[in-house]
Amino acid sequence: MRVLVGGGTGFVGTALTQLLRARGHEVTLVSRQPGPSRITWNETFQKEVVQSRLESTQMLAKAITEAPQPPQAWVLVTGVAYYRPSLTAEYDEDSPGGDFDFFSNLVTRWEAAARLPGHSTRQVVVRSGVVLGRGGGAIGHMLLPFRLGLGGPIGSGQQFFPWIHIVDLAGIVAHALEANHVQGILNGVAPAPTTTNADFARALASALGRPAFIPLPSIVVQAVFGRERAIMLLEGQKVVPRRTLATGYQYSFPELGAALKEVVA
Ligand SMILES: NC(=O)c1ccc[n+]([C@@H]2O[C@H](COP(=O)([O-])OP(=O)(O)OC[C@H]3O[C@@H](n4cnc5c(N)ncnc54)[C@H](OP(=O)(O)O)[C@@H]3O)[C@@H](O)[C@H]2O)c1
Repeated sequence: MRVLVGGGTGFVGTALTQLLRARGHEVTLVSRQPGPSRITWNETFQKEVVQSRLESTQMLAKAITEAPQPPQAWVLVTGVAYYRPSLTAEYDEDSPGGDFDFFSNLVTRWEAAARLPGHSTRQVVVRSGVVLGRGGGAIGHMLLPFRLGLGGPIGSGQQFFPWIHIVDLAGIVAHALEANHVQGILNGVAPAPTTTNADFARALASALGRPAFIPLPSIVVQAVFGRERAIMLLEGQKVVPRRTLATGYQYSFPELGAALKEVVA
């Protein structure tokens, strides 16, 4: 298959590109930087988080609608920020969300920008949890304090922590591209039983052979991670990948302990 990957130079996109190339697909990246196997666009793009997602998605959606030979499949990765953070609710792909704060609104508009009603191109949206992998993402910032024995639960620690190993996020996108029966929303989270932030802190400390006693106050988290990722860590949703499993995707890292051991190895 010939695959065009938006965000293909990033943390998630690099893992996806490697997987797709290893599976024999021909991959071209959409990037602001020129380079081999890349499509670039001009610098009129605004830097704001909304514009970076909406405009590039709209541009690709428009290209699909105008293409004489539209692609077989169009897969968008958004986030579980679509679902309202809660200490009690459980969300699958059919659960409501998307209209209560900046990030849920962003995901709603982002997914709407990608939608091509009635189009022959098969459309899939993967709502990703916090991506665990080497060399990037939220865990890249957490490793040093945990390695120094200064890690611990974030905020109250009771908030849910919807996570996915980067191998599985790339795997779900590749599955969505390759399997003709997959369409609609898939939750990109691990199928492990409920994980809270405190569970995550314990598991990460254990993978590193370090203690995890020192809680990280909210204010410090915001300073270290910036607003977007801080919200993903301070608030959380219990998200289950019901449709992802039903479509036949088999996880490489369904359990947190094994996922973290691979990341810190
Ligand atoms: N990492 C996570 O835990 C996580 C969880 C849920 C959802 N997500 C979503 O997944 C996506 C990728 O995350 P990531 O961790 O791989 O991010 P990343 O490492 O920061 O990569 C960002 C990618 O987006 C492109 N980009 C940056 N600014 C842009 C702009 N103004 N306009 C268009 N493209 C721009 C970059 O391409 P160039 O620099 O080559 O132009 C790069 O390929 C993001 O939309 C994020 O919200 C991530």
